[in-house]
Amino acid sequence: MAMQFAHFHAMDFLPRNGKSLKNYFEPYDIVYIYTSTGIEAVKPTGERYKYHPGTAMFRYKRWIAGEQEPLLRALNLVKGDSFLDCTIGFGADALMASVDLGDSGIIVGLEKSEVLAFLMKVSQQFTNFESEELQQAFRRIEIVQQDAVDYLRNQPDNSFDVVYIDPLFETAIEESTNFTTHKQFAVRDQLTDEWVREAIRVCRKRAVIKAHYTSELFEKYGFHQLKRKSAKFHFGVRNKKDLCE
Ligand SMILES: C[S@@+](CC[C@H](N)C(=O)[O-])C[C@H]1O[C@@H](n2cnc3c(N)ncnc32)[C@H](O)[C@@H]1O
Repeated sequence: MAMQFAHFHAMDFLPRNGKSLKNYFEPYDIVYIYTSTGIEAVKPTGERYKYHPGTAMFRYKRWIAGEQEPLLRALNLVKGDSFLDCTIGFGADALMASVDLGDSGIIVGLEKSEVLAFLMKVSQQFTNFESEELQQAFRRIEIVQQDAVDYLRNQPDNSFDVVYIDPLFETAIEESTNFTTHKQFAVRDQLTDEWVREAIRVCRKRAVIKAHYTSELFEKYGFHQLKRKSAKFHFGVRNKKDLCE
């Protein structure tokens, strides 16, 4: 299976044969380890990352129990909407949006990091969620490996109902182990004037950002900050309608 996987993805296949991983990096920057539960990326410096749904599992459980989900409140998606996640990362937010939209919507997730985009794509086949709803929602996300601003520049005006941006925070917060390892492979681009301008042009209803609660980005770019007591990150919403009035 591992050999077939490597050939299918045009990668060299190296049998492990019990040897230490450090023997495998020359001449590679990244080695992928194939296991029965998924694919793990390893750097020569030892950092490793394997897809994990992150916060999505407990958020999903709370949401189906009737609790409010702050991201979904900010996105305010309705059935049939199209949703663009500019920074899919390990896809916890996109997964919640996809569950909310059901099979009526369109959901595209962009990821600039080649490694993270690849792991997300292959995990759509490997990962088995206990919940069939989550499983289907995960598989419905179209993952595109591209810089978000490049992608947005090539989209027509008003082509996605909602556009969402969650770059890595400028301010460090205490993070889960999964997020810390994910960061080793992530791209650290910050929001720019052009990124916001393009997101507003491409969205039909609203653009939403996530940032640290102390971030100046909300005010700088005119996003209404949805404040939540004791939450380290907040969502910011800019409705297109407000801009046209
Ligand atoms: C904070 S994480 C997103 C987490 C995500 N919302 C989730 O629920 O898992 C930011 C992600 O955006 C990616 N990224 C950063 N700059 C980007 C860009 N210009 N275009 C596309 N993806 C980008 C990073 O590699 C990283 O994986």
